[in-house]
Amino acid sequence: MKTLLPAALMALLVLPARAGDGVIDLTRLLNYANQPVPAYITRNNTTAGNPVTDKGATLGRVLFHDKRLSRDSSVSCSSCHVQSHGFGDAPVASTGVSGTTGRHSMRLINARFATEVRFFWDERATTLENQTTQPIRDHAEMGFSGTLGDPAFNDLVSRISAIDDYRVLFAMTFGSSTITEDRIQRALAQFVRSIQSFDSKYDVGRAQVANNNVPFPNFTAQENLGKQLFQTAPAPPGQPQTGAGCSACHSAPEFDVDPRSLNNGVTGRIGGGTDLTNTRSPSLRDLLGPGGASNGPFMHNGAFTTLAQVINHYNAIPGDNTNLDPRLRRPGGVQNLNLSQAQKDALAAFLATLTGSSVYTDERWSDPFDSNQRLSLIVLPADAVEILRNPNGTATIACQAAPGLSYRLESSIDLRNWTTVDTLVADATGRCEKVLPVSGSTYFRYAYEPPAP
Ligand code: HEC
Ligand code: HEC
Repeated sequence: MKTLLPAALMALLVLPARAGDGVIDLTRLLNYANQPVPAYITRNNTTAGNPVTDKGATLGRVLFHDKRLSRDSSVSCSSCHVQSHGFGDAPVASTGVSGTTGRHSMRLINARFATEVRFFWDERATTLENQTTQPIRDHAEMGFSGTLGDPAFNDLVSRISAIDDYRVLFAMTFGSSTITEDRIQRALAQFVRSIQSFDSKYDVGRAQVANNNVPFPNFTAQENLGKQLFQTAPAPPGQPQTGAGCSACHSAPEFDVDPRSLNNGVTGRIGGGTDLTNTRSPSLRDLLGPGGASNGPFMHNGAFTTLAQVINHYNAIPGDNTNLDPRLRRPGGVQNLNLSQAQKDALAAFLATLTGSSVYTDERWSDPFDSNQRLSLIVLPADAVEILRNPNGTATIACQAAPGLSYRLESSIDLRNWTTVDTLVADATGRCEKVLPVSGSTYFRYAYEPPAP
């Protein structure tokens, strides 16, 4: 015999919202703006006028994971910037809508905590905002290039302007549902800048000492030796080696790249040829994932698959070039550190302490879409309308809604016929509130007022 579930019970089984099941609750935004940052982290490349906000980063999260931002709806930013790979990618070259990328995808962890404001391996993007729509405009990556038979960027704006969810999210973030490239850039940059990782073994140790240069109590002797080698300038030629000089270009505790760096002697190009333009590196944090495997090959051309290969490269720079950083040159030649095997192993052990864990699974940065690429936004108050009677014959009719969205406050005396009392915009904390005189029995409800198409 077949058992039929009553409709009400079916609804109960379907409705409750869980993380990662295609539901974003806009009445309870996740915390992006006020994440704790350790006191020793001071570098910050945030563009004036575009700080990380909970609303903007929430919109950025949806855009980042949405395949509809590519020509044929097959590729999202997260196709090449994979959360479980530190927002980098496993293959040397990533696959876009029309072919593969010319350089290796970059990890996006702690992109904000850096002196350098330029982005990409060759620093061709002048700000992170400017960077974020370049992959969308790229023929191979997301395909709204307006050339080679591709649709233009404006076609993308039209496409997402027709999606109800985006009108709601843009209205919440920017106060109107108008979609522009500038707004897309702001939201994506806020999302990328919000991606942070400060729960590594390095951070646990750093928090216990006065400065980076003293041994960390939680480190092994090998890790402390590696830290010291990383920090210390190489000894003059002919003397016993005591330093690898890494911190000249990747300095603690952010491990961001020195904006003045030239190239590091890795000059190959994916598919062959020479490229001397690569002078930027992502933060050296999270080179490896929490399981100890690499988050993808290293350098702009993915030339190295292990940290040992990276260290061997710096141990003996393979050759000079016209854009090699002078710090890697020596009188009459290039850097040759002559590190012992124990020193090389110590450096690798130290680099492994820079890996965090929560960033790999935290809901804030995860794919909000369900397995069918669907999304549900909760915009109505999850709790009942709150009515507070005031002593002077008025009542405060309040609800906890989504900040920045418009709601109609309606009243009724018979629960059948409703009239609009007012239209209110929920404040920065999501509060909708109206004080009204009350007499007799009046019912109140808030209704969501969607932005017009
Ligand atoms: C097809 C793969 C692919 C897609 C899709 C893609 N990226 Fe990238 N991303 C890359 C590659 C490859 C690089 C390095 C390119 C270079 O330097 O020339 C990169 C670099 C970046 C950087 C620079 C990081 C740094 O430290 O300088 C950021 C930020 C970034 N991508 C964000 C995004 C965003 C936002 C999107 C979606 C709008 C996106 N990417 C879509 C492959 C991709
Ligand atoms: C003169 C500046 C400079 C010095 C010194 C330097 N690096 Fe780099 N590093 C760079 C640049 C620039 C890149 C990006 C180069 C590229 O991809 O072609 C880079 C890239 C890397 C990468 C790859 C990052 C990634 O996401 O793929 C690692 C790992 C690294 N360096 C480790 C080290 C270590 C360890 C040392 C010390 C032994 C060191 N670096 C010394 C400038 C430097």
